[in-house]
Amino acid sequence: MRILTGIQPSGKLHIGNYFGAMQPAVELQDKGEAFYFIADYHAMTSMSNADTLRSNIQDLAIDLLACGLDPDKATIFRQSDIPEVNELAWILSTVCPMGLLERAHSYKDKVAKGISPNHALFAYPTLMAADILLYDAELVPVGKDQKQHLEMTRDLAGKINDRFGEGTLTIPEAQIADHTAVVPGLDGQKMSKSYNNTIPLDGGKKAIRKSIMRIVTDSTPVEEPKSTANSTVIALYKLFADEAAVQQMITDHEAGGFGYGDFKQRVFDSYWEFFAPVRDKRAELENNLDYVNEVITNGAQKARAESTKVLDRVRAAVGLR
Ligand code: ADP
Ligand code: TRP
Repeated sequence: MRILTGIQPSGKLHIGNYFGAMQPAVELQDKGEAFYFIADYHAMTSMSNADTLRSNIQDLAIDLLACGLDPDKATIFRQSDIPEVNELAWILSTVCPMGLLERAHSYKDKVAKGISPNHALFAYPTLMAADILLYDAELVPVGKDQKQHLEMTRDLAGKINDRFGEGTLTIPEAQIADHTAVVPGLDGQKMSKSYNNTIPLDGGKKAIRKSIMRIVTDSTPVEEPKSTANSTVIALYKLFADEAAVQQMITDHEAGGFGYGDFKQRVFDSYWEFFAPVRDKRAELENNLDYVNEVITNGAQKARAESTKVLDRVRAAVGLR
């Protein structure tokens, strides 16, 4: 089975990315032939500083390895090392109805959040479909927010196959991680780089603790019992703490006598312990950037071996060759 997913180098990796994308990716690298890439072309739809993009790409390469992706098991590469993806995106855009793009939640959400829309942001789903289809991916692990993009990908692949012949493109399946489908941010909304509500994976102890202390709660006084419904503190704690600790926190909410500062401190402590191995690995890789860059270069070679096969097949099917 061929597994593929991409992640944008558009800011520091946060725990939503970790549970929504990285953890499933690490598990899946043992279950099939995995392709993981740094979606740098995509990041350009929302950022314009060249130095920031360059350094984010480097950071993400380090993070992918620090979180446990293994270059002996998975092909790890950078999207723009395979520029042929743009050609497939173009071919897909010729069968893509405008209405399909106009209905994209992600586009509408981003515009509503103040990102000034450009053509690339609007056409994003065709490039994302090309990312997936260029490698004959069968399974695409993503967070819930990407569900519609996967449906569009299947839709576009189906249109190509209808028009130019069955088997031209492989129709992929999405794999949405259910129990961690949407990791909430500090404000209780979906955690996202663009909403300024993240808990980063990497950062100084003080800064991370400070951000965890910003989790929004109600203002129930310390001595009173606290509601456990829709609690962001509990939802986040569940990600790092074992069942007994979570149960204890729920009991302490119900009993009263514990303040939110105490609960947040527990969230921080469990966070810090949970990510210790990732931090250690990251520090080691930061001192060995040659190795990181070599992994990415080798990944591009392996990825291209696949992409050229698929693109040749598509070119022949559509009449470009
Ligand atoms: P962001 O929203 O912070 O810009 P991306 O869009 O780059 O994050 O997402 C990268 C990956 O992480 C995708 O697979 C996405 O579905 C997943 N992801 C992002 N935020 C969350 C979240 N809050 N909960 C679960 N998964 C998430
Ligand atoms: N759109 C995805 C996100 O914002 C990133 C991405 C780009 C992707 N291309 C992909 C994910 C292909 C899976 C497969 O999270």
